[in-house]
Amino acid sequence: METKLFQAEELDQAAQILKHKGLVAFPTETVYGLGADALYPDSVKQVFEVKGRPSDNPLIVHVADFEMTRPYVEKYHPLTDRVVKTFWPGPLTLIFPIKKNTLASIVTGGLSTAAFRMPDNKKTLELIRKVGDPLVGPSANTSGKPSPTTAAHVFHDLNGKIAGILDDGATKIGVESTVLDMSGEVPTILRPGAITKEMLEAALGVEVLLDQHLVIESETPKAPGMKYKHYSPDTPVLMIQENQWQPAMDWAKTENKRVGILAGPAIAEKYRSQDRYIFDDDTVEAAARGLYSGLRALDEAGQIDLIFAQIIEEDSLGAAYMNRLKKAASQKYFSEK
Ligand code: TXA
Ligand code: MG
Repeated sequence: METKLFQAEELDQAAQILKHKGLVAFPTETVYGLGADALYPDSVKQVFEVKGRPSDNPLIVHVADFEMTRPYVEKYHPLTDRVVKTFWPGPLTLIFPIKKNTLASIVTGGLSTAAFRMPDNKKTLELIRKVGDPLVGPSANTSGKPSPTTAAHVFHDLNGKIAGILDDGATKIGVESTVLDMSGEVPTILRPGAITKEMLEAALGVEVLLDQHLVIESETPKAPGMKYKHYSPDTPVLMIQENQWQPAMDWAKTENKRVGILAGPAIAEKYRSQDRYIFDDDTVEAAARGLYSGLRALDEAGQIDLIFAQIIEEDSLGAAYMNRLKKAASQKYFSEK
C-alpha cells in the first residue's frame, strides 16, 4: 500500500478513504492521531494491528463538536457543560459512562466508559464532519515509540501500512491531551497534559484529583495505557538533574560514551556534544513541544550510546513533560555512583 500525503484541499479524498474503512492519520494540536471510523470495528481493529498496540488499551473517540458525543454517553457529569465550554476544542479528553451497545468493545477495551475529545485543529474537525462519524485516534506511531509531532514522523513509522496522512505541519503542544475521568463524582486526571490540574480547578471551582496510578505504575491501572512502557526511543535515556550535568558529562567522557543532549538553550550552551537537540527556548512549552521530536532526532542520529535529557519542575505543563520523559527513560536518573 502506498501511503499518500494529503494536503488541506484533499480533505474529501481523505474522508472517502475513512468511509471505506481505510486508515488516515490526522493532525491535532497535541500529536498526530491514527484515524479510523469509530463505528467500524474492522477498521478499528486494523489500528491496533498497524500500531502493534495491545488490544485491551482503549482508544479516544474524536468528535467535531460536543453534540457528537450524545448518542454514546449514558450520563454526563454536572460540570460537563462548563468543562466543555472552557476547554473544547482543546487538549482535554473526557471520560464518560456510555450506553450499552453503542461503541464496540474494540474501541472501549470492554469498559463501560469511553474517552472523548474535540481536537483543536480546523482540518481535522472538517475531516470528522465530512466523515460524519467520530474517529478513533491513538497517537500515530508504532506502539512503544515516541508519539509523532509531524507528518514525517508518522510516515517514518507507518509508511506502507496506512492509506494516508493529512499533513498540517508540526503540532503546537507536542505531548498528548490531559485525560480527565468524569465518570465518577470527583473529576480525576488520569494522564497529565497541557490542560493542568490548576486550570481545571480554576474553571470548575472544585477540587480535581490526580489518580495515584499515574505516579505508581500499577498492574491494574484505571487508564489501561499506563501499564505499558511508552514513548521510548531505541537509545537509552537518562534524566539529568540540574546540578548533575557536569558530573554526567564527565562520567560519559571517562566511560567513552557518546552522548546526545536533549535540553533547552541554557543547558545546551554550557555542555558541548556533537549530537544535540535544543528546545526552541527555555520555557516548559518549548520543552513539551520538542520532547518527542528530539528523542526521535537523536535516535535517528545513530551512533549515540545515551541520551541525556533535561528534567523540569513537575508542575503545570512540566508534569506532562516529566510524565512522558520518565517513561522514555524507564524512570532512570543519572547518579554519580
Ligand atoms: O492528544 C491525544 O490524546 C492524542 C491525539 C491523537 O488526540 N491521542 C492519544 O491517544 O494520546 P492514545 O490512545 O495514545 O491515549 C489514550 C489514553 C490511553 O492512556 C488510554 O488507556 C486512555 O486514554 N483511555 C481511553 N479510554 C479510556 C477509558 N474509558 N478509561 C480510562 N482511560 C481510557
Ligand atoms: Mg499513544
